[in-house]
Amino acid sequence: MGYKMIYLDNAATTPVREEACEEMLPYLKEQYGNPSSIYRIGREARNAVEEARERTAEALGARSDEIFFTSGGTESNNLALKGVVRNRGGKMHIITSSIEHHAVLDVCMELEKEGHEVTFLPVDRYGLVNPGDVEKAVKPNTSLVTVMAANNEVGTIQPLEKIGAVARENNIIFHTDAVQAAGNIPVDVNKWNVDLLSISSHKFNGPKGAGALYARKGTGITPLWQGGAQEKKLRPGTENVPAIVGMGKALELAAGELPEKIKELTGMRDRLMEGLLSMEEVVLNGHPSRRLPGNVNVSIKYIEGESLLLSLDMEGIAASSGSACTSGSLDPSHVLTALGLEHELAHGSVRFSLGKGNTMEEIEYLLNVIPGIVERLRQMSSVYRQNKR
Ligand SMILES: Cc1ncc(COP(=O)(O)O)c(C=O)c1O
Repeated sequence: MGYKMIYLDNAATTPVREEACEEMLPYLKEQYGNPSSIYRIGREARNAVEEARERTAEALGARSDEIFFTSGGTESNNLALKGVVRNRGGKMHIITSSIEHHAVLDVCMELEKEGHEVTFLPVDRYGLVNPGDVEKAVKPNTSLVTVMAANNEVGTIQPLEKIGAVARENNIIFHTDAVQAAGNIPVDVNKWNVDLLSISSHKFNGPKGAGALYARKGTGITPLWQGGAQEKKLRPGTENVPAIVGMGKALELAAGELPEKIKELTGMRDRLMEGLLSMEEVVLNGHPSRRLPGNVNVSIKYIEGESLLLSLDMEGIAASSGSACTSGSLDPSHVLTALGLEHELAHGSVRFSLGKGNTMEEIEYLLNVIPGIVERLRQMSSVYRQNKR
């Protein structure tokens, strides 16, 4: 990279940390064995995969035989939800929230098409799911509850312990998409009362293309694919050894550094929130305190989030827009809509997600340039000019 960039899009992905790279390199080079082979380099690869499994389990408060490696968050979510539904057999009822990532939402919609019933619970204006609503939604044939640990757009952290307790009392399997949580807040499968939990390596400074599904012992899951005995036949196919090794290292280090990281990110996040909210007609999206340490999501009235992003990009700042027209439509995201944001505010939303390596100087630089950009964009908006006349 020939220029300096201020990277504030860590919820999208993160750079691979040096220690994880170092640990991966031998498995890309001389240690290229297949973990299923019986000779030395095969056995060494197997040992490396098993060490990564132990590190992953340790970071999640799980047992190593409850960790199954996958290609990432999307696959872990698909395996958890479809795997449980197929294992149960028959038509069933599933409870989820209306602000899940598409990797859960779209799977639920697919299951609906297959004849299962899905309840998409509403959230309050901060993005919180009410555990009481989960309780009320339970039916005799409810087999699965899936609620994300922390939201990828607005950063709201869900009361998982309570939701998990409701699921447990009713004998319902509880899955959580912890892709944004792992490496950013403490994760403990027992404290949260979860049976299934998805994580993704590239969100905590590990390589892309690796993830894991935690599955509590005894949770029935039918594999989605056949063709090999890897991962106890739950996820057949030759293991992505370098990526698994990198993920294990990155997660182990992230878990160890967590208290320090939370403190640092929260300090920068709060300064950024305070600076942005001191501008005229800027509102915070998501919960004021129950939010990921690195997440700032605001709506800036009278401007389009996308235009702001382009201007920030010209200043070397990378961020993301909550109104991203991912599907090619101009509709704001389902998350902002579910929070009840009016159309105009939803379109003016921008997300800054801080991570390892960001500094307070970068935050101050952003806060220095952003008022000028906002003013320039607002001057181009006829709605703004009319309102200010
Ligand atoms: C909450 C959440 N779930 C799932 C995913 C998908 O993870 P992956 O990119 O590893 O497939 C993401 C990625 O943005 C996410 O934020």
